Amino acid sequence: MRKEIVFNLNGSPVFATVEAQKRLIDVLRGPLGEKGTKEGCGEGECGACTVIVDGLAVNSCLYPALEIDGKNVTTIEGLLGAGNQLSVIQQAFVDHGGIQCGFCTPGMVMSVKALLDANPQPTEAEIRDALVGNLCRCTGYVQIIESVKAAAQKLREDK
Ligand code: FES
Ligand code: FES
Repeated sequence: MRKEIVFNLNGSPVFATVEAQKRLIDVLRGPLGEKGTKEGCGEGECGACTVIVDGLAVNSCLYPALEIDGKNVTTIEGLLGAGNQLSVIQQAFVDHGGIQCGFCTPGMVMSVKALLDANPQPTEAEIRDALVGNLCRCTGYVQIIESVKAAAQKLREDK
C-alpha cells in the first residue's frame, strides 16, 4: 500500500508518497534528502535517529512514516540559522567537547532541543534522564552534560 502524506518539516509543508512499511527515517533520508538524521542500530536503542515530532523527541527508526501525516517534524537541519549558523545547542557541543566523531550528535542535539524547549533550566539529573536513550561511544558523556548546561544557560541569557 502507498499513500500520499503531507506534514511540516522544519516549518515548511512537504509531500511524500509513502509505502506502508516505511519508517520516518526512510522518508527523511530517502526522498526528502535530509541526511543529517543518522541511523545507528535501527532498533530504538541508540538514539542516533532522534527527531522531534509535535514537540516530543522520537526515534525515527521506529516511527511509522504513515503516522507522520499532518504532524510537525523538526530535524537537525531545522536548527540552523541564517547562513547555516549553528544553533546555540550545536555551538555549545562544539565549544565544550560534546562532539567527537559526531555520529551521535544530531540525535543528541535533538533530544537536548526537546528537553530545553520544555524545561529551560533542567537539573543534571533531568539532563541525564532526557539523554538516557542517546548513546555515545566517544565522549564519555561528561562533556555532553557540560554542553547541555552551557546551552541552557546561554538560551536563558538570550531571552
Ligand atoms: S537508529 Fe534509531 S534508535 Fe538507533
Ligand atoms: S561523538 Fe562519536 S558516538 Fe558520540
